[in-house]
Amino acid sequence: MPEIGLYEAMRTLRAVRRLRPDPIPDDVVHRVLEAATWAPTGGNRQPWRVIVVKERVSKERLGTLYAEQWTKFAARYRANLAGAEPAMRERTERMLGAGDYLGAHFGQSPIIAVFCFNPAEMAITDSSLSRVSVVGGGSIYTAVENLLLACRAEGLGCVLTTLLCACEPEVAALLAIPPPWGTAAAIPIGYPILRGHGPITRRPVEELAFLDSWGKPL
Ligand SMILES: Cc1cc2nc3c(=O)[nH]c(=O)nc-3n(C[C@H](O)[C@H](O)[C@H](O)COP(=O)(O)O)c2cc1C
Repeated sequence: MPEIGLYEAMRTLRAVRRLRPDPIPDDVVHRVLEAATWAPTGGNRQPWRVIVVKERVSKERLGTLYAEQWTKFAARYRANLAGAEPAMRERTERMLGAGDYLGAHFGQSPIIAVFCFNPAEMAITDSSLSRVSVVGGGSIYTAVENLLLACRAEGLGCVLTTLLCACEPEVAALLAIPPPWGTAAAIPIGYPILRGHGPITRRPVEELAFLDSWGKPL
């Protein structure tokens, strides 16, 4: 069992989009899945399931669907980038380049972990507000994050993707996901081609955290 400090894992968990097709040992897959089960969920209901897609034909179909979504998303993203400052443009272009690679190779990932959720088992406490509801996601993405951190610990590349959620009916039909289950994320996982996880760029605490009231510095 590999050991990495928790802070070190969080500080270096970045989107790894270039993955080798080499298989992942079953015991390693089991460990990262078990880490997902440890996540907190509302009422401890664990209203999520994950389908570990290994079968070639299904992965290829997911890859085709993902590539369609990525192509549309990247075109919009690139169009919006025209006026951005050079440093930002360069960073984003690097990300989009890696995204293009993933778009072309998504279906060749050794594993695609498709996270599903059951809205009937969730107490979605913000569902009656006149804004988009986010609370339900809190009982799924905790498990997703645990899985990503465990992948980091195992030296596995991975990236949280959500583009496939836009074609949920096709994904549900392909993977025999029954109603009322929905899809929340698809995580391609594999050993990295390049350096894999490493330094990340994030805003500082002072920009994101306040003291006592909105906008008051810590
Ligand atoms: C909710 C969510 C949805 C995401 N969806 C996608 C996606 O569909 N495709 C993709 O390539 N990356 C996706 N990402 C990855 C983000 O682009 C990535 O985490 C972010 O750019 C930070 O990258 P870094 O960790 O390498 O710094 C998603 C991340 C989150 C949290």
